Amino acid sequence: MAARIDETPEWRALAAHAAAVKALHLRDLFAADAERGTRLTLEVDGLYVDYSKNLVTDETLALLFALAERAGVTERRDAMFAGEPINVTEDRAVLHVALRAPATERIEVDGIDVVPEVHRVLAQMADFADRVREGMWTGHTGKRVRNIVNVGIGGSDLGPAMAYEALRHFSQRDLTLRFVSNVDAADFWEAVHGLDPAETLFVVCSKTFSTLETLTNAKSARDWLLTGLGGDESAVAKHFVAVSTNTERVQEFGIDPANMFEFWDWVGGRYSFESAIGLSLMIAIGAEQFSEMLGGFHAVDEHFRNEMPERNVPLVLGLLDVWYSSFLGAQSQAILPYSHSLARFPAYLQQLEMESNGKSVTLDGEPVSWDTGAVVWGQPGTNGQHAYYQLIHQGTRLVPCDFIGFAQAAHAGGDHQDLLMANFVAQTEALAFGKTGAEVAAEGVPTSQVPHRTFAGNRPTTSILAERLTPRTLGQLVALYEHRVFTQGAIWQINSFDQWGVELGKALAKRIVLDLQSPALKSGATPALEHDSSTNALISKYRELRDLR
Ligand code: F6P
Repeated sequence: MAARIDETPEWRALAAHAAAVKALHLRDLFAADAERGTRLTLEVDGLYVDYSKNLVTDETLALLFALAERAGVTERRDAMFAGEPINVTEDRAVLHVALRAPATERIEVDGIDVVPEVHRVLAQMADFADRVREGMWTGHTGKRVRNIVNVGIGGSDLGPAMAYEALRHFSQRDLTLRFVSNVDAADFWEAVHGLDPAETLFVVCSKTFSTLETLTNAKSARDWLLTGLGGDESAVAKHFVAVSTNTERVQEFGIDPANMFEFWDWVGGRYSFESAIGLSLMIAIGAEQFSEMLGGFHAVDEHFRNEMPERNVPLVLGLLDVWYSSFLGAQSQAILPYSHSLARFPAYLQQLEMESNGKSVTLDGEPVSWDTGAVVWGQPGTNGQHAYYQLIHQGTRLVPCDFIGFAQAAHAGGDHQDLLMANFVAQTEALAFGKTGAEVAAEGVPTSQVPHRTFAGNRPTTSILAERLTPRTLGQLVALYEHRVFTQGAIWQINSFDQWGVELGKALAKRIVLDLQSPALKSGATPALEHDSSTNALISKYRELRDLR
């Protein structure tokens, strides 16, 4: 059993050092080192990362690298790339990196090279996507399919939905793409609103093909389709495809396995959108641009795998995350894309980070005594500036922020991009350096108002800047965060690849559905409910209100 990380000299040194850093201010750190803003920067495949406005000194960084070494981050990384079953609670390899490996690479799981399989499915996806894009995939009535509705939830929705928004500019505009995830019928009915069933294809994405929300929505989709097309069951074959690891269940649902795109249990749901789970995205942007996106992922994979720790971007950023969560007491992390196209990126990262590292026992099953994954939140700047930035600037909480921006807009013209990016840069400057009471007073502000208009500064930010948001850049960004999450998990000695925390609610919901739908409840009788008093009362109240209809 490895030593508990908090009992190592490296951890203790950081804990002691944290007290000293809390007394420092970014103003002084920048004043003392004219090079800081260029020195504490990194680059990976054209992504420029400035981490100089973080609450760190050279000593902090050295201590964090020592911690990474002690925790065996690079050994664990190598075990991941080697296909070892590092997801111990599910006894699985963790090989999303194989999804973007070139065909020439060899990556084995249990002695079998998985790369040829990955490329076989990519070719199957490309063939299908081409047929839809070129109008060759016709529906039951012979009409061309032009609407694609992705049905899935969590990792089977957030990735493709986020990436489609991000890359809409690169998509084929005569196709309509929509996404349904929530079991709330409003989601489904809004998604199909105005669509012609004869022109609509459902891509049902579910790793397990047993997820309540997805199966319920897929069933409603089938009913909607058959109602619209006169009830002929054979229509399903032309209007439904499935993406799953579970052929049997796909078949049980009524989708022909010939219309199934496979992936594998060594791909975690939240790490899956560049697998066949990205089929709807590939239909939108085409196989070539999808492949460019995979190239971006792969470039960052190679960087993470080979670059020395001090220049390794995901490693450095992952260590900073650990620093804030475990040593400086930060509870959350804001993701602030200065790109409207990345509007769904924070939601995507919520699953990636919080489902991965929202854990409180170590790999050995022992309770952790350090803080692990932060609450991830955010939305695009500049909208956030007019909503919650007040708290980031002047509130009492420490909120490390990631600013993500691009030098060139997808839509050129006007002053939009310069105004957007002026805000990006200004915010990071204001957060770091603030405005002192003396500066405020010197502007003639009445004394009583000075405290209210003073900005303490010293609020940490990381800036990520790229030339332009392209499929390749998106791949780079996602891989960067994936490996950053990996680094955090390796330090915290937790399993970043299981998600047992979602199971209890699912199991209880199944039981409560029976309570809600039991004939005794429907007839208005009062059956014995066997939950706690609050849950019993909620069920009874719900039933009473529902039955008023
Ligand atoms: O929320 C739990 C979870 O298992 C996620 O990890 C996963 O991405 C999502 O549900 C969807 O699962 P599936 O793809 O099996 O439908």
